[in-house]
Amino acid sequence: MGRCGVRVMRKELIFANWKMHMTNSEAVKYGLKFRKLVAGVNADIGICPPFTALSDLHEVLRGSGIRLGAQDVFYEEEGAYTSGISPHMLANVGVEYVIIGHSERRNVFGDTYEIVNKKLWMALRHRFKVILCIGEDIKTRKSGKTNRFLRAQLKAAFKDIPDVSDVSIAYEPLWAIGTGKTATPKECEEEHKYIRSVVRKMYGDRAAEQMRIIYGGSVKPSNAHELKIQPDNDGALVGGASLDVKSFAQIVTK
Ligand code: PGA
Repeated sequence: MGRCGVRVMRKELIFANWKMHMTNSEAVKYGLKFRKLVAGVNADIGICPPFTALSDLHEVLRGSGIRLGAQDVFYEEEGAYTSGISPHMLANVGVEYVIIGHSERRNVFGDTYEIVNKKLWMALRHRFKVILCIGEDIKTRKSGKTNRFLRAQLKAAFKDIPDVSDVSIAYEPLWAIGTGKTATPKECEEEHKYIRSVVRKMYGDRAAEQMRIIYGGSVKPSNAHELKIQPDNDGALVGGASLDVKSFAQIVTK
């Protein structure tokens, strides 16, 4: 039961983010194995491969209930945008989910707050489900400004977005991504609670209670369970450990 009497069941959301790993043939092999390993699991499970493997992975996952996600989308419909991938292109290869605002997009490819907002707007307009990533770096955490920073990221991403019912938030502290250093269950719960409170202020009780807030940053089979059982954690976004099909299946089933 959520606060203020809003009763909501949030379905667990567990996604693999392969980043720039996996050729098509590797993705196909993985997909065939993975669908057997997680058959019957009751959660929203998905894989975000590189763009080049989307189409083939879609074929392999057909009928399995496993969702297909993209790691990014461009904020225009079409045109002279060399290397851009449009929402139509993604929808055409079976993509249902899109990651927006991953810290590597922000820090390596230069996605600004404004770009993240534009991508979010475009993705929602095309009825994708979005996994919006936010998270602080170590300097911000050490200086005690984590909440302020997360709030600023959320406010900027949600600027002029009237409805966030198709959005989930991945809390991914930068100091935990790919480092082997995971947020403790307590740190994870504290931030997720805070994030939910910001969503509550912006969109009300129902939206806050429905919002799936998942954790990302060195999730692996050995720590997945203790993170997953936190009351305000609704799943995981898994990078490195998702590259091994057995370990990702273990994370899903823990
Ligand atoms: P990691 O990456 O699991 O390798 O830390 C998570 C992410 O960046 O989504």
